[in-house]
Amino acid sequence: MKYLDVELRDMTVEDIPSVLEIENLTFLHPYKEKDFMYEINENPVSNVWVMEYTAKSLGIKQIVGFVDYWVTFDSGTIVQIAVHPDIQRSGIGSMMMKEVIKDAYVKKVRTLTLEVRASNIKAISFYEKFGFKKTLVKPQYYSNGEDAIYMIKEVNDING
Ligand SMILES: CC(C)(COP(=O)(O)OP(=O)(O)OC[C@H]1O[C@@H](n2cnc3c(N)ncnc32)[C@H](O)[C@@H]1OP(=O)(O)O)[C@@H](O)C(=O)NCCC(=O)NCCS
Repeated sequence: MKYLDVELRDMTVEDIPSVLEIENLTFLHPYKEKDFMYEINENPVSNVWVMEYTAKSLGIKQIVGFVDYWVTFDSGTIVQIAVHPDIQRSGIGSMMMKEVIKDAYVKKVRTLTLEVRASNIKAISFYEKFGFKKTLVKPQYYSNGEDAIYMIKEVNDING
């Protein structure tokens, strides 16, 4: 899972402050520290990864994105995926999604599902690019009354 300067690896408790920074910048109802603690330490079905950028010559490391997806038997659910707003649309989200699909395939997951806010056009475009199909609307799914779009993707291939 190594790319030019970025690497996808398991999220640790030490990563939580950086992850929360991205979380707070990207989501209307962000997860709190305790939610990530649960995902890392207790949730038996979670896979929580961070994308870390390293500039070796400068001695800099920075978390630029993260993904949390659950596997239950042959079904996977993308719970959260986010990229720092400063570097969205530069391929980081795609790198993470490709690894999710690869991991899901290896774990014999047949379908990946997710819910996304109906207004989140960029995320819907992102998911559609990876073959997710809008399957149904969950009315007033979110606490502000917004509908969720439920999307499903069949996992037939390691490359999606
Ligand atoms: C959704 C998200 C994870 C995508 O990550 P990203 O690194 O910006 O996406 P990529 O650069 O890999 O883009 C891949 C494709 O997604 C689609 N896409 C991404 N951003 C888009 C935008 N602003 N508008 C339209 N389509 C977009 C495009 O099809 C794009 O391919 P292209 O650049 O070749 O046209 C990122 O926008 C994000 O963190 N959003 C905020 C959090 C969020 O909404 N998460 C999903 C909650 S369900």
